[in-house]
Amino acid sequence: MAQKRFGSVATTGKKFDVIGEYLSMYQRALGNTSLQTVYIDGFAGSGEIPLVELNNNLFDEEVKTVIAGSADRALNVDKPFDHYVFIDKRKKCVEALQKRFQGNPNANRVNYVIGDANEHIQNICRYGNWCFKRGVVLLDPFGSQVDWETIKAIAKTKALDLWYLFPAGLSVFRQIGKDGRVDPTHESSITRLLGTDEWKTAFLKPSKQRDLFDAPVGNEKVVTPESAALYYD
Ligand SMILES: C[S@@+](CC[C@H](N)C(=O)[O-])C[C@H]1O[C@@H](n2cnc3c(N)ncnc32)[C@H](O)[C@@H]1O
Repeated sequence: MAQKRFGSVATTGKKFDVIGEYLSMYQRALGNTSLQTVYIDGFAGSGEIPLVELNNNLFDEEVKTVIAGSADRALNVDKPFDHYVFIDKRKKCVEALQKRFQGNPNANRVNYVIGDANEHIQNICRYGNWCFKRGVVLLDPFGSQVDWETIKAIAKTKALDLWYLFPAGLSVFRQIGKDGRVDPTHESSITRLLGTDEWKTAFLKPSKQRDLFDAPVGNEKVVTPESAALYYD
C-alpha cells in the first residue's frame, strides 16, 4: 500500500521521532487551555512507512523495516489533539488509515479526507474560526505537490504551525540540468512550489563560457539542495 521509500531508520525514523516529540510538547503546552487544537496531515499516507536500506555487505542486500508514519504518531501523543484531519489523494491510503485506527481511543476525533491537500487545506484555513483554535500542519509530499498558495493560506491563519519536509533535492535541485537547462514542465512546477519565478536568477548564473561575440553561452546551475532549502526559508 504505502510506496516503498529508500531511507534508514536512523534518518527517516529520527525525523518522525522529532515530529512526534514536537507534537507531544505542543499538546503539553496547549492541551489544557481553552483553545481547541487541530492536527492536519496533508499527505497522511497509510499509517506506516516501509523503508528499504542497502546493507553494505558483500551482497548489497536490501534490508526492509516498517516504521509508524506521521498520522500514527500524531494520533498517539499523550494528550491528543481535539481534532485530526488526515488527507491523502489515494483512497487506498485513507482506507488503510481508517482500518488501522479502528478501535483507537482517539478515533472519533479524526476526519478522513480523500483528495488534494492543497484544495482541502486552503479551505480549512479560509473557513476555520482561528480565534479559538490552534494547530499543526504537516506536509510530507513525495515531490512538488505543495502549492505556494497553500503556504500563504496557512500563514494567514496566524494560528497554525507548519512542518514542511521540503523536497529541495528531488523537486528543485534535480530538476535543473548542470547546464542550467530546465524542462518547461519542471520550470512551471518549481515556480508553483516557490511562488515566484525569481528562482531563475538565484539558481542560475550566466555561463563563464563565451561565444565569438563574448556573450555567455547559456547558463550554469549554481543551486545546491541546501541553498534551495534556504531560499525557501
Ligand atoms: C511521502 S508520502 C507521506 C507519508 C506519510 N507522511 C507517512 O508518514 O506515512 C506522500 C503521500 O502523499 C500522497 N499524495 C500525493 N499527492 C497528493 C496530493 N496532491 N494531496 C494529498 N495527498 C497526496 C501519496 O498518496 C502518499 O501517500
